[in-house]
Amino acid sequence: MIKSDTKVHSLYGSPIAHSLSPVIFNTTFQKLSLNRAYVPFEVSKDNLKQAVEAARILGFDGFNVTMPHKTAILEMLDRLDENAEKSRAVNTVAMTKNGLVGYNTDGEGAIRALRSYGFEPNNRRILVLGAGGAAQAIVHRLSGENNTIRILNRTLGKARRVADNATGPGRVSYGQLAKSSLEKGMEDADLLVNTTPIRTSTLVSQLKIPVNIVRDAGWVFDFAYDKPAEPVPIGRGTISPLEMLVHQAALSYEIWLNETAPVDLMRSSLVDYLGKDWR
Ligand code: ATR
Repeated sequence: MIKSDTKVHSLYGSPIAHSLSPVIFNTTFQKLSLNRAYVPFEVSKDNLKQAVEAARILGFDGFNVTMPHKTAILEMLDRLDENAEKSRAVNTVAMTKNGLVGYNTDGEGAIRALRSYGFEPNNRRILVLGAGGAAQAIVHRLSGENNTIRILNRTLGKARRVADNATGPGRVSYGQLAKSSLEKGMEDADLLVNTTPIRTSTLVSQLKIPVNIVRDAGWVFDFAYDKPAEPVPIGRGTISPLEMLVHQAALSYEIWLNETAPVDLMRSSLVDYLGKDWR
């Protein structure tokens, strides 16, 4: 039950009607009898600054931001953690004594999702599609291990920037996203991480990539989960973006509550709500 001393978390984005984060958090809070609530708010670009000020004034105990605010919010915060600073994008904000601190959990959330499928991202060949904030976060994190990473993007200059920002021991190269580069990349990779809003199955059919290449490809990890489509069996298997969502929620929980998150409970909250398990 929401009471006068309930701690409130929020989500700012537009559109947010499809968001599954409230399900994960509120079910988990209820099951653990935590006096907390998670409320999504539809916030337009024009209103983001006021919404952030409102979070301060109303004393939200931390909040999430999603599209289209992940970059715009940077200048409205008091401090950024290293991953947010590197990727120039924020998805989790903590309310601290010293003000609002921005975090980016995309990289760590992706790594935890991969591990939960038994995929250890070390000494691997990884193809990354897209070069926005999410790609920056995952490339930065994966280049910290001994991986060979190839970035393909529609805009070459952005792919170059992401590659240049990767400072780890991994080898990082980049190129233009096109039929031939995607074919070659899929043939070579153990894992394809697609951070663009276009699903890999759609890209593959639009670009007419031959079936044998698709079948033999490595694991496929599409970040986009907002369009409810059945995953098309592709390559060795698909890493569900829902698993990533659960781990990102767990990372927010850890940042806000400063304790280990109940990941299995968070996952089962979503599985029960959707009526299907993705693993
Ligand atoms: P996020 O924070 O989720 O990474 P973003 O910063 O907007 O979001 O980045 C989206 C990425 O998807 C970009 O790399 C974008 O390509 P450009 O750099 O050329 O803009 C890519 N993207 C978006 N729409 C695309 C499309 N229709 N085809 C291919 N790539 C696309």
